[in-house]
Amino acid sequence: MDVLQVSLGERSYPIHVGSGLLSAIGERLRDIKFPHQVALVSNPLVADLYADTVMSSLQQAGYDPRLMLVPDGEDYKNLETLQLIYDQLIEHRFDRGCGLLALGGGVIGDMAGFAAASFLRGIPFVQVPTTLLSQVDSSVGGKTAVNHPRGKNLIGAFYQPQLVVIDVATLQTLDPREVSAGLAEVIKYGVIRDADFFVWLEEHQELLRQGDAEALVYAIKKSCQIKADIVEIDERESSIRAHLNFGHTFGHAIENLAGYGQWKHGEAVAVGMVVAAKISQAKELCREADVSRLINLLRAIDLPVEPPAFSLAAYVEAMQRDKKVKHGALTMVLNQGIGSVTLEQIDDIEGLFSTIFDTFA
Ligand code: NAD
Ligand code: GLY
Repeated sequence: MDVLQVSLGERSYPIHVGSGLLSAIGERLRDIKFPHQVALVSNPLVADLYADTVMSSLQQAGYDPRLMLVPDGEDYKNLETLQLIYDQLIEHRFDRGCGLLALGGGVIGDMAGFAAASFLRGIPFVQVPTTLLSQVDSSVGGKTAVNHPRGKNLIGAFYQPQLVVIDVATLQTLDPREVSAGLAEVIKYGVIRDADFFVWLEEHQELLRQGDAEALVYAIKKSCQIKADIVEIDERESSIRAHLNFGHTFGHAIENLAGYGQWKHGEAVAVGMVVAAKISQAKELCREADVSRLINLLRAIDLPVEPPAFSLAAYVEAMQRDKKVKHGALTMVLNQGIGSVTLEQIDDIEGLFSTIFDTFA
């Protein structure tokens, strides 16, 4: 097992990465003196696969766990489902001496994390991410949220977990489409921070697409390290944490317009990164060759690279509803070549996006 660290003073926590870690989760909770009464929040699909292992480990370590299920899917990442979690916590008399463990992908992690942030004004929680996307991104850094019908993740909180346990063995049951979606966020790290890592991804694209365990473990550790480094500098996104939103402004618009759950988050981010890279090229921040490298790598990983056919007006309206808009101006993360990004304010949103859309025709 490898252990990375997110250093945030009293909110610091370790990230454990290894295979077969679920069966020892109880001991790991004891190590951090996690509360005795544990709400294990998951969905039926993930629970069928992994809840028995986690529940037994918790019981063997002396914990009193209760499994709490919510429906599976992005279209359930909302206030109604959050209410189901609160209802179960209250019904089973969870009090201040309890903790919450999120077992699942990014949807469970974001939603259970927000439940932990808000229930009784905050109870300790642990992330046990089981999708590649949640292992490389959403379980680290403390962003928790649910969606509003008018926009992604509009209701949420910054709330750090006390521990992240990444069991890479869980990826064996993951649909290949989900592996690809997770790799979109991995590729993002290469573009925003690390040109050498981007080259490594190009060289290992076939192994990654096939779900090779060794390649995935390397990519997970590298991604978590890059994210931890950024979050340590800017926990609450007042500066460079915004770089992690590369591809997300347009990606969130796709998810919102298509209807939550129709596009995987990582797939929408893949197209969003292509759009952002084309804007960067139009602004002479990168070369056509950089855009082509990005498109080729995304294609090799079986990710989409073209926006779905919504009108320009619909895209613009959806982007303007996003959290990245302040006082009506859209700030986008644009890549400077490969390995570095910058924040740019976009004034003529319609004009710029209309030019970019023409390049997809
Ligand atoms: P997801 O949570 O919907 O999981 C995808 C599917 O895989 C679901 O059906 C899930 O039940 C299933 N699944 C989970 N683990 C499995 C396993 N081991 N084997 C088989 N099936 C499994 O989707 P996701 O891509 O993990 O997460 C996307 C969400 O993460 C979005 O809501 C996005 O907004 C959020 N996100 C948050 C952050 C953050 O910083 N908080 C960052 C990136 C993304
Ligand atoms: N996924 C973006 C962030 O964590 O800031």
